[in-house]
Amino acid sequence: MAPRDRAVPPALDVHVTADDLRAAMERDVRDGLTSTPKSLPPVYFYDDRGSQLFDAITRLPEYYPTRAERGILEIAAKEMAELAAADTLVELGAGTCEKTRVLLDAMAATGHLARYVPFDVSATTIQRAAGELANEYPGLRVHAVAGDFHRHLGRIPGGGRRLFAFLGGTVGNLDPDQRRRFLADLDTVLDPGDRLLLGTDLVKDRGTLLAAYDDAAGVTAEFNRNVLHVLNRELGADFVPDAFAHAPRWNEGDHRIEMWLRADGPQRVRIAALDLEVVFDDGEELLTEISTKFTADGLADELASCGFELEEQWLADDGAFLVTLSRPLR
Ligand code: SAH
Ligand code: AVI
Repeated sequence: MAPRDRAVPPALDVHVTADDLRAAMERDVRDGLTSTPKSLPPVYFYDDRGSQLFDAITRLPEYYPTRAERGILEIAAKEMAELAAADTLVELGAGTCEKTRVLLDAMAATGHLARYVPFDVSATTIQRAAGELANEYPGLRVHAVAGDFHRHLGRIPGGGRRLFAFLGGTVGNLDPDQRRRFLADLDTVLDPGDRLLLGTDLVKDRGTLLAAYDDAAGVTAEFNRNVLHVLNRELGADFVPDAFAHAPRWNEGDHRIEMWLRADGPQRVRIAALDLEVVFDDGEELLTEISTKFTADGLADELASCGFELEEQWLADDGAFLVTLSRPLR
């Protein structure tokens, strides 16, 4: 890092404008609510309130992934930083950049760290986090990018040697087709010296998995229903969020947790901006998120089929979570 003692003000590129986000939301909501079963993409959870609720989830006793991944980073960040030998950390789905400091500290210790590029669809969340990090790491150039990782990976600033981190298990929120497309896109964006550090939650016993998505305090239930508040505000919908029950399930065949919202009684919802009326039967369910759980071998195969060569894998002490470093095969 440059030997300066004053914070460098962060740069912010916005590729998801309010209009752009709204157009995508209108399309996604119309498609999802007129399909069988009804579904919504998880990207709309994360308005300000949703980002705060997710942050609260990461501190719940039942939600082990964040603690497990942080534990891995605390033990192995030095080795990761040395293997990657990068001057830039690009973080996809960075959110509040909570665990980032562990990686930044390790990269700074290698003497190469110069730039941090947080990338997230939630512009306000990363702008805030970017400001905090720029203050905490004087001399670090922070260049935040507000974008959608399904559409704007190509807009990530190039140059230098970059470590792309995609942490938290967020890759598990993509379905197999989206994941393949995402990893293949990422493979074209990475230069030969760049590296990918991927955090993935692992298959484990059903009880532990379900508890992580059905906490006693009801924070995950509120996070799940938040998407209905977002649609009410953004699209003038008249969902009654409390008339939908949080219904998480473990899908054994597809090795994923699914979050559903179940209509408690028949519901008729009007979405003014779409001039659309949607009817829910009593007990009808709406799929709001999948959270895929991996095995180390399965993930290595997926990465290989998308053009990545595995370099190293780190497993949490209790085997709950995995962090994988890989490089683009060229
Ligand atoms: N990396 C953090 C946050 C994970 S929460 C952690 O490990 O704790 C998932 C983050 O991904 C949120 O900040 C959300 O805004 C972001 N996100 C979700 N879908 C996205 C998309 N399509 N493009 C970019 N960011 C997305
Ligand atoms: C962001 N993502 C990895 C979280 C997960 O576990 O799939 C989102 C989440 N949904 C409910 N709880 C947390």
